[in-house]
Amino acid sequence: MQNDKDVSRRAVLCGLAVLTLGLVPDTAIAATGVKVLANGKVEVSLSRNPALKKVGGTVQFQDRNGQSFALVRTGKSSSAYRAINLSCTHEGEKVVKSGTKWVCPEHRAEFALNGDVKVGPAKANLVQVPVKVSATKVTVG
Ligand code: FES
Repeated sequence: MQNDKDVSRRAVLCGLAVLTLGLVPDTAIAATGVKVLANGKVEVSLSRNPALKKVGGTVQFQDRNGQSFALVRTGKSSSAYRAINLSCTHEGEKVVKSGTKWVCPEHRAEFALNGDVKVGPAKANLVQVPVKVSATKVTVG
Protein backbone atom coordinates (compact mmCIF):
# COMPACT_ATOMS: atom_id res chain seq x y z
CA MET A 1 0.00 0.00 0.00
CA GLN A 2 2.84 2.38 0.85
CA ASN A 3 4.31 1.84 -2.66
CA ASP A 4 1.01 2.80 -4.29
CA LYS A 5 1.10 6.12 -2.44
CA ASP A 6 4.75 6.70 -3.45
CA VAL A 7 4.03 6.04 -7.13
CA SER A 8 1.01 8.24 -7.01
CA ARG A 9 2.95 11.02 -5.28
CA ARG A 10 5.76 10.62 -7.84
CA ALA A 11 3.32 10.87 -10.75
CA VAL A 12 1.79 13.99 -9.29
CA LEU A 13 5.20 15.59 -8.73
CA CYS A 14 6.31 14.76 -12.28
CA GLY A 15 3.14 16.32 -13.62
CA LEU A 16 3.70 19.45 -11.56
CA ALA A 17 7.32 19.63 -12.71
CA VAL A 18 6.21 19.59 -16.35
CA LEU A 19 3.69 22.32 -15.67
CA THR A 20 6.10 24.53 -13.74
CA LEU A 21 8.82 24.21 -16.36
CA GLY A 22 6.48 26.10 -18.61
CA LEU A 23 6.39 23.44 -21.28
CA VAL A 24 3.94 24.66 -23.82
CA PRO A 25 3.30 23.33 -27.29
CA ASP A 26 5.46 25.03 -29.93
CA THR A 27 2.82 24.84 -32.61
CA ALA A 28 -0.80 25.71 -32.66
CA ILE A 29 -3.43 25.74 -35.31
CA ALA A 30 -5.23 28.75 -34.03
CA ALA A 31 -8.84 28.08 -33.22
CA THR A 32 -9.08 30.91 -30.74
CA GLY A 33 -7.31 34.16 -30.21
CA VAL A 34 -7.17 35.01 -33.91
CA LYS A 35 -9.45 37.66 -35.32
CA VAL A 36 -9.79 38.71 -38.95
CA LEU A 37 -10.43 42.46 -38.96
CA ALA A 38 -12.71 44.32 -41.35
CA ASN A 39 -9.65 45.73 -43.15
CA GLY A 40 -8.38 42.20 -43.86
CA LYS A 41 -5.57 42.29 -41.31
CA VAL A 42 -5.40 39.50 -38.75
CA GLU A 43 -4.99 40.06 -35.04
CA VAL A 44 -3.30 37.30 -33.03
CA SER A 45 -3.75 37.45 -29.27
CA LEU A 46 -0.53 36.61 -27.44
CA SER A 47 -2.22 35.55 -24.21
CA ARG A 48 -4.53 33.14 -26.02
CA ASN A 49 -1.74 31.59 -28.09
CA PRO A 50 0.82 30.29 -25.58
CA ALA A 51 2.83 28.59 -28.34
CA LEU A 52 4.22 32.05 -29.13
CA LYS A 53 5.86 32.37 -25.70
CA LYS A 54 8.72 30.20 -26.88
CA VAL A 55 11.27 30.99 -29.62
CA GLY A 56 10.34 28.78 -32.57
CA GLY A 57 6.70 28.64 -31.54
CA THR A 58 4.18 29.06 -34.33
CA VAL A 59 0.51 29.75 -34.79
CA GLN A 60 -1.13 28.99 -38.10
CA PHE A 61 -4.22 30.75 -39.37
CA GLN A 62 -6.06 31.72 -42.53
CA ASP A 63 -6.93 35.15 -43.78
CA ARG A 64 -10.38 36.07 -45.07
CA ASN A 65 -9.48 34.68 -48.51
CA GLY A 66 -8.55 31.28 -47.11
CA GLN A 67 -4.81 31.81 -47.58
CA SER A 68 -2.71 30.03 -44.96
CA PHE A 69 -0.16 31.89 -42.88
CA ALA A 70 1.99 31.30 -39.84
CA LEU A 71 3.11 33.68 -37.16
CA VAL A 72 6.52 32.57 -35.87
CA ARG A 73 8.34 33.67 -32.72
CA THR A 74 11.84 34.26 -34.09
CA GLY A 75 13.72 35.52 -31.03
CA LYS A 76 13.61 36.36 -27.35
CA SER A 77 12.80 40.01 -27.90
CA SER A 78 9.16 40.84 -27.31
CA SER A 79 8.98 42.17 -30.87
CA ALA A 80 10.63 39.18 -32.59
CA TYR A 81 7.83 37.81 -34.72
CA ARG A 82 7.61 37.06 -38.41
CA ALA A 83 4.48 36.29 -40.40
CA ILE A 84 4.88 34.14 -43.49
CA ASN A 85 2.62 32.96 -46.24
CA LEU A 86 2.62 29.15 -46.19
CA SER A 87 2.36 28.81 -49.98
CA CYS A 88 5.52 27.24 -51.37
CA THR A 89 7.43 29.63 -53.61
CA HIS A 90 8.07 26.85 -56.12
CA GLU A 91 4.55 26.02 -57.33
CA GLY A 92 2.30 27.16 -54.52
CA GLU A 93 1.60 24.00 -52.54
CA LYS A 94 0.92 24.61 -48.85
CA VAL A 95 3.99 23.81 -46.76
CA VAL A 96 3.61 21.91 -43.50
CA LYS A 97 5.58 22.15 -40.29
CA SER A 98 7.95 19.28 -39.67
CA GLY A 99 9.96 19.70 -36.48
CA THR A 100 11.90 22.94 -36.83
CA LYS A 101 11.23 23.53 -40.52
CA TRP A 102 8.53 23.85 -43.14
CA VAL A 103 8.41 21.14 -45.78
CA CYS A 104 6.57 21.22 -49.07
CA PRO A 105 4.74 17.93 -49.64
CA GLU A 106 4.78 18.41 -53.42
CA HIS A 107 8.50 18.41 -54.33
CA ARG A 108 10.09 18.39 -50.86
CA ALA A 109 11.46 21.93 -50.71
CA GLU A 110 12.42 22.88 -47.18
CA PHE A 111 12.31 26.21 -45.39
CA ALA A 112 13.54 27.36 -41.99
CA LEU A 113 10.84 28.29 -39.49
CA ASN A 114 11.37 31.96 -40.39
CA GLY A 115 10.62 31.13 -44.03
CA ASP A 116 14.15 31.17 -45.43
CA VAL A 117 14.58 28.59 -48.18
CA LYS A 118 17.01 25.79 -47.25
CA VAL A 119 16.44 23.06 -49.84
CA GLY A 120 15.14 23.40 -53.41
CA PRO A 121 13.57 23.18 -55.83
CA ALA A 122 12.12 26.39 -54.37
CA LYS A 123 14.56 29.25 -54.86
CA ALA A 124 12.84 32.03 -52.94
CA ASN A 125 12.00 32.39 -49.26
CA LEU A 126 8.40 32.07 -48.13
CA VAL A 127 6.73 35.45 -48.58
CA GLN A 128 6.78 37.63 -45.48
CA VAL A 129 3.83 39.70 -44.37
CA PRO A 130 4.31 42.87 -42.28
CA VAL A 131 3.58 42.61 -38.56
CA LYS A 132 2.87 45.18 -35.90
CA VAL A 133 3.60 44.00 -32.37
CA SER A 134 2.06 45.35 -29.17
CA ALA A 135 2.17 44.04 -25.62
CA THR A 136 -0.95 41.96 -26.10
CA LYS A 137 -1.22 41.14 -29.77
CA VAL A 138 0.45 40.88 -33.15
CA THR A 139 -1.37 42.38 -36.11
CA VAL A 140 -0.53 40.72 -39.41
CA GLY A 141 -1.02 42.43 -42.74
S1 FES B 1 5.49 23.21 -54.98
FE1 FES B 1 6.77 23.20 -53.24
S2 FES B 1 8.59 22.27 -53.90
FE2 FES B 1 7.34 22.30 -55.64
